[in-house]
Amino acid sequence: MEIRFLGHAAFELTHEGVTVLIDPFLTGNPKAAVSADELAADAILVTHGHGDHVGDTVAIAKRTGAAVLAIVEVAEEFRNEGLENVHDPNLGGTVVFGWGSAKLVPAWHTSTTPKGTVSTPAGLIVEFGGSTIYHVGDTALFGDLELIGRRHAIDVALIPIGGHYTMDRHDAVEAARMIGARQVIPCHYDTFPPIVADVQAFRADVENSTASEVIVLAPGERHAI
Ligand code: NI
Ligand code: MN
Repeated sequence: MEIRFLGHAAFELTHEGVTVLIDPFLTGNPKAAVSADELAADAILVTHGHGDHVGDTVAIAKRTGAAVLAIVEVAEEFRNEGLENVHDPNLGGTVVFGWGSAKLVPAWHTSTTPKGTVSTPAGLIVEFGGSTIYHVGDTALFGDLELIGRRHAIDVALIPIGGHYTMDRHDAVEAARMIGARQVIPCHYDTFPPIVADVQAFRADVENSTASEVIVLAPGERHAI
C-alpha cells in the first residue's frame, strides 16, 4: 500500500489499482501537490465538515463516481449536492467496502460546513491493503486516543501538528505516544501562517520519547508501507 501526501490534511492511499482519498482539499490549498481534476478515486473519506477537509470532494466524486463517506449530517449535505453513492455512518460505525473498511472514531474539534451544516468531527480508521491507517482528523489532544490505539493496531497514524486549529507539535508527541502507531506522518502544518510548525523538532521529540518512527512527507511525496 502506498500513501501520498497531497498537502495539508489530504492523503491518497493506493493499492492494487484502488485509490482512496482522505480529506481532498486541493482547490485553494496553497500546499496542494496536485489539482483536483488529476486525481483518480474509488472512495473519498471525509473527517469533518470544514472547508479545508471537505475540499473538492463533491467535484471529484461527480467526475469519478467514487463512493463518499462522512458522518451522517455531512453525508446528507453531499446527497443534497447530487451525490448518490454516499455512506453515512456515525461515530463508532464501520462501513465495509470491496477494498477494505473505514470507521469513524471521536475527535475533539468543531465541524460546521461552509454551507452551514452543523455536525460532529471524527477521525478515521482505514483498513486497506493489509494495513491500518488512522487519520486523527483535526483533533485536540484527548485521552481516548490511547483507547483507540489499544483497540486498533495502527500501522500509520496521520497526526496534525500545526496548532491553532488542532493540537500543536508538543501535544502531538503525547498523541503519538498514546496511539502507539508503528509510523507517524505529520500533517496540517505550514499551510497557512497560524499553523507553521517545526516538523523536524516534532520528529526528534517523537523518536526520542516513543517507539514510533516519524515519516516526514513533503506535499506530493509517497511512502510505501
Ligand atoms: Ni477543521
Ligand atoms: Mn482543518
